[in-house]
Amino acid sequence: MFHERLEQTALRVTAHFDRVLAQMADQPVVHAMGHATNGGKRLRGFLVLETARLHGIAFSAAIWPATAIEALHAYSLVHDDLPCMDDDDVRRGAPTVHRKWDEATAVLAGDALQSLAFEMVTAPEIGSGGIRAELARSLAIASGAQGMVLGQALDIAAETAKTPLTLQEITQLQQGKTGALISWAAMAGPRMAGADTAPLASYASALGLAFQIADDILDVEGDAETVGKATGKDADAGKATFVSLLGLDGAKRRADDLVQSACDALSVYSVEAETLRDAARFVVERKN
Ligand code: IPE
Ligand code: IPE
Ligand code: MG
Ligand code: MG
Ligand code: MG
Repeated sequence: MFHERLEQTALRVTAHFDRVLAQMADQPVVHAMGHATNGGKRLRGFLVLETARLHGIAFSAAIWPATAIEALHAYSLVHDDLPCMDDDDVRRGAPTVHRKWDEATAVLAGDALQSLAFEMVTAPEIGSGGIRAELARSLAIASGAQGMVLGQALDIAAETAKTPLTLQEITQLQQGKTGALISWAAMAGPRMAGADTAPLASYASALGLAFQIADDILDVEGDAETVGKATGKDADAGKATFVSLLGLDGAKRRADDLVQSACDALSVYSVEAETLRDAARFVVERKN
């Protein structure tokens, strides 16, 4: 049931990308953007659409921020895979953008996807100027040097750190690189409705950490074909992860505790939030 819902979201986000990109120039950089936005679980888009539904926001409005966060996430992946970052050849079961085209195209496609995210998140279909400005401002904070970019910088710095990171430092790193965008996605619904974002902020903060722990576990235990990207790379690269600090069993226990916390944070919502509880369970059980 949950999987069908997630797949449905993925199809709708992909269709929206297709419509938007079809209006752009027939150029390699645009083709690369199409490649980079293709596939993926669309968990962030799903969180936008589900939290929007929970707050009575129409799909025709919510699809814009849902696709926007997936554009921003796709940009972060294109740059994350570059040789100067994690140096990966495969993403979502296909060649990375710099392998299929070249590094300049990957840098530029990433740049343009970031701009596209802000274009989409301020689309007139979303509603009032105030709400669109608030979505754009919060997305800027979540994605920049206080959020995703900060986490990525800490992640790269940790590779050459002289001493292993503490639990607190790894938590800060992961809250940035993964947590910030996931939190933004889960708060988009109440933000669009002008409602309290606090319960979903607590939910998302636990969910985001659990999600990244699962990513780190998949790097150790996952099968590259199923995961759709190379595995077994984090330890060799000297990445600081919950697995490197707590070991596999410790990391799994931590992820399970976080799923419980995420579900507890939803207590103010009724049975309507069951899909979000399913999403929390999904992030630690997933195989890709
Ligand atoms: C991968 O994210 C990168 C991380 C932030 C851990 P996802 O696992 O959500 O990737 P897709 O979008 O499904 O490919
Ligand atoms: C990537 O984290 C996070 C962002 C792109 C912001 P990882 O480097 O762990 O993601 P994968 O494992 O390459 O998907
Ligand atoms: Mg990385
Ligand atoms: Mg990576
Ligand atoms: Mg990873």
